[in-house]
Amino acid sequence: MKAFQIKAGAGLAGLERVERASRKPDANEIRVRIDAAALNYRDLSFAKGQFFNPPDYPLIPLVDGCGDVVAVGTAVTRFKLGDRVITSYYPRWIDGPLSFGKTAVSFGAQTDGTLAQELTASEEAFAHAPRTLDAIASATLSCAGVTAWNALFVAGAIKPGASVLLLGTGGVSLWALQLARTAGLFTIITSSQDEKLERARSLGASATVNYRKTPEWQEEVLRLTGGKGVDLVVEVGGEGTLARSLKATGPGGTIVVIGRVSGGGGVSIEPGALIAGAKRLVGITAGSRSMLEQLVRFVDVNEITPNIDKVFPFDEAPSAYEYLEMGRHFGKVVVDIRA
Ligand SMILES: NC(=O)c1ccc[n+]([C@@H]2O[C@H](COP(=O)([O-])OP(=O)(O)OC[C@H]3O[C@@H](n4cnc5c(N)ncnc54)[C@H](OP(=O)(O)O)[C@@H]3O)[C@@H](O)[C@H]2O)c1
Repeated sequence: MKAFQIKAGAGLAGLERVERASRKPDANEIRVRIDAAALNYRDLSFAKGQFFNPPDYPLIPLVDGCGDVVAVGTAVTRFKLGDRVITSYYPRWIDGPLSFGKTAVSFGAQTDGTLAQELTASEEAFAHAPRTLDAIASATLSCAGVTAWNALFVAGAIKPGASVLLLGTGGVSLWALQLARTAGLFTIITSSQDEKLERARSLGASATVNYRKTPEWQEEVLRLTGGKGVDLVVEVGGEGTLARSLKATGPGGTIVVIGRVSGGGGVSIEPGALIAGAKRLVGITAGSRSMLEQLVRFVDVNEITPNIDKVFPFDEAPSAYEYLEMGRHFGKVVVDIRA
């Protein structure tokens, strides 16, 4: 089968097109013909050597994938031939609270991922794909989708009518916008570009702030919430945004710490701001398969279509990486493995 492989830290130039042998599934495994694989910021981080615990040999990158089951092991019970499935971010995190054992391995970072014609892995590492979405759209749930779900409804435990702040218009933030609007939340989203904010409004954002033109954007968020502050922040910015996110959060609110697109360095936070405001600072990492299955149900019931920015054919996967790195995208960047 055709595949790309890369060694952590090799840079985007290290992506190489290879032939890999097709593998017969073990008793508890399924083989999936991958139709589409989506990129995430973490895949850039992996290429640049900024990811946790990578192996010292090249592996097939990307975690997001959707395709059909083409072979099943003798003991497989959850899937049959022809089922359409999506990958679960952590093959060993099925349900319940996170443990280091459950999150030690993720596709495309510690074990082979989805930028290939096939993926053979334990049946536990997959969920049924949404019946309302095609393969390209379904391929965006495994990382950005489940992370947004976890941030809003699991770690964030947000209630209808509450307010949420979303930073930038990347994959996680736009998934969070679409889920939050569907759940009846007041949504404020920021971006560096007015054109992207316009598009976010057409996706249902309640209010928007240009963080370049308004560097003290936390003040604008306070104004937009009548001085109260938001109930929840989906914090993907890190170093350059976390302290402001804390200020933009109202009493009893939660900051779900997810990413570091503005830098991963240390941040100075006054303990008093958390104590006096009874605010919660919670880190999350993707989500369990059970959370992914909840997301699939929510997507199907509400017929949510994730925002796809651009689709690249398989051979142009390196261009997809470069395009994501440029940061011009609005929503997800996907590789069509069939094209
Ligand atoms: N913890 C987890 O489990 C988990 C899961 C998924 C992702 N992540 C992390 O979350 C972050 C976002 O991932 P992603 O895949 O959604 O990224 P992405 O699609 O590449 O989005 C990047 C976007 O971030 C925005 N941005 C850049 N600098 C910003 C700043 N200073 N303030 C506000 N927004 C800024 C930009 O939006 P505009 O162009 O609109 O300005 C940019 O388009 C990454 O750090 C990623 O590693 C973590």
